[in-house]
Amino acid sequence: MSGQFRADGSLRHLLTLEDLPRPLIERLLERAERFVRPLGARPPASRVLEGCTVANLFTEPSTRTRVSFELAAKRLGADVVNLEVQLSSRVKGESMLDTVYTLQSLHVDAMVIRDAEIGVPATVAAHVADHVSILSAGEAHVDHPTQGLLDALTVRQHKSRFDTLSIAIIGDLRHSRVARSAWHVFRALGVSDLRIVAPPALMPPAGEFEGCSRHTRLESGLPQADVVMMLRIQKERMAQVELPDADRYYASYGLTPERLALARPDAIVMHPQPMNRGVEIASAVADGPRSVIRDQVRNGVAVRMAVLAEVLAWRSAA
Ligand code: NCD
Repeated sequence: MSGQFRADGSLRHLLTLEDLPRPLIERLLERAERFVRPLGARPPASRVLEGCTVANLFTEPSTRTRVSFELAAKRLGADVVNLEVQLSSRVKGESMLDTVYTLQSLHVDAMVIRDAEIGVPATVAAHVADHVSILSAGEAHVDHPTQGLLDALTVRQHKSRFDTLSIAIIGDLRHSRVARSAWHVFRALGVSDLRIVAPPALMPPAGEFEGCSRHTRLESGLPQADVVMMLRIQKERMAQVELPDADRYYASYGLTPERLALARPDAIVMHPQPMNRGVEIASAVADGPRSVIRDQVRNGVAVRMAVLAEVLAWRSAA
């Protein structure tokens, strides 16, 4: 149990999608959908979180996730503080928990945490005062729950049902928190055909990704897929693995227009970004008609609004 829920069953923290019941996932996706607007339209604005404060505490680089959490909080009327942790007192030896206690004393209601170490969001969640919520914005290689939700929302916008879908997740599965959260959410939503495709060195250990079929060749994992989810080669987490040479990787695993033709004609292509163009994906695919990569970014704000509104609902009602 991840300890994400309050005694009354409501969601307090979002650390993982692993034990989220399907009805809650569906409710969050529905709520998020109501925050989605077409490009060029005025974004949704609400005051439900007026008087609340959200802190972004990121110790790993982030563009989309941090900015979208910030915009999500502001579009609900909350105040936001961003901690540039490299500049803060963590480098002077102050522990993460001391930083967290400082934020708590400053009346921060929700902390959004990204960290390269396993267990940091859960440790913080176990120590904060009862009224504070912790949202993971990416934990090591293990979880990235709001990314999983925005991926599910993106699929839902393009495909009418989940249970009949074939979804292929392709690339550096071993190091990917995005893939682990996608696996949790798609499994919870009843996707019957989930495939993982990776070179042997980037395949996750046996026992992980239960229920997924494993493929070491694109030509075996891609045929007739409805959803093709590409992952970034995570050079920064490659310490123990022989890094495949970029050209060789592209030759065998890069998603080119020719390879995409193996998937269904109406397949959608996803990527969490940042992309290594010409390594895991060709620009012609990333920018092509089947790509929903920019929709994923737009959906990220909507999903984070839904999650913030959910965990802080007690606050807005008070
Ligand atoms: C991902 C991350 O940091 O986990 N990016 C993101 O949040 N959209 C994926 C990645 O870094 O490859």
